[in-house]
Amino acid sequence: MSKRATITGLGKYIPPKVLTNKDLEKMVDTSDEWITTRTGIKERHVVEDGVSTSDIACEAAREALEMAGLAAEEIDLIIVATVTPDMVFPATACLVQEKLGAKNAAAFDLEAGCSGFVYSLAVAAQFIESGLYKNALVIGAEILSRITDWEDRSTCVLFGDGAGAAVLEATDKGGMLAFELGADGSGGKSLYIPAGGSLKPSSKTTIEEKEHFIRMEGNQVFKFAVKTMGYAALKVIEKAGLQPEDIDLFVPHQANTRIIEAAANKLKLPEDKVFVNLPKYGNTSSASVPIALAEARAEGRIKNGDIVVLVAFGAGLTWASTVIEWNEGV
Ligand code: UT7
Repeated sequence: MSKRATITGLGKYIPPKVLTNKDLEKMVDTSDEWITTRTGIKERHVVEDGVSTSDIACEAAREALEMAGLAAEEIDLIIVATVTPDMVFPATACLVQEKLGAKNAAAFDLEAGCSGFVYSLAVAAQFIESGLYKNALVIGAEILSRITDWEDRSTCVLFGDGAGAAVLEATDKGGMLAFELGADGSGGKSLYIPAGGSLKPSSKTTIEEKEHFIRMEGNQVFKFAVKTMGYAALKVIEKAGLQPEDIDLFVPHQANTRIIEAAANKLKLPEDKVFVNLPKYGNTSSASVPIALAEARAEGRIKNGDIVVLVAFGAGLTWASTVIEWNEGV
């Protein structure tokens, strides 16, 4: 049997600066009560001026490499999932490659909104399963505070900054058993940034109209998320030849506790099998799943042999899920 990819290293980076719901009450017309009941978020972290996505990506990556026992020069491939790259080009993955000193690694970015990290796991796994590469460093990193309109209460309460990373290597036992990836481009306008691309380059007018910030139809994304998270999780479990009751830990994209609860209900999962850290960090887009995974393992919620399901949804609109039979020892 051909080898599978498995996660042998995990790391995360959360910027020290905290922005609480109480802080937001002073910035926009909102309340801790509204944010808590509608989203589950209590606080989020934001970077200081001058810090870039590649900086925080490297922090998470170094932790993941240390856990895997790999030196930077040994990395074959770096994929950075992000919607907040340092700049349009070069790819943030190339900036990370240089900062880490990973001079033997191929490097590129992958953009699939909040599903980006799980999409990237699927892509990296193909390189490992084919035998082309021995390992890969997959990072989800975001500085959403820089693309947030801090005067728009409907979006600014939701997002936070952070980074998470995973090292993938080949294994004969367990690893990533199946993937489910999908997209529905017709929902693109539900969650997007109007300007700054080739269609509408940044100009004085686009800045005045605040078209360089996130625009979202919350309700539309909410409906999509509730439908998709359950579907993507069930589908990938079926592809892996398993049942929902086989799951030891469900690690969903952290966007809204109501969305997570709906997905968990669909799978009939008890609360103790669902990992939630949303109250502390808000929605960190492609960083949310790797941060949650790193934290779950650090808290002793994941051990070798466990069945772990990751599922995400996001801009695109996209969805992605995977089932991992945990084996970090290779
Ligand atoms: O990773 C993907 C990123 N996006 C998401 O995950 C977002 C998914 N969507 C959601 O999580 C929810 O739709 C939201 C949390 C964004 C909004 O919750 P909702 O229950 O769908 O509320 P709503 O948009 O229907 O708004 C309800 C009310 C509105 O007032 P009216 O029109 O009923 O008078 C809003 O103006 O809540 C108001 N509102 C607020 N009030 C206080 C919207 N934002 C706020 C706020 N504070 N921050």
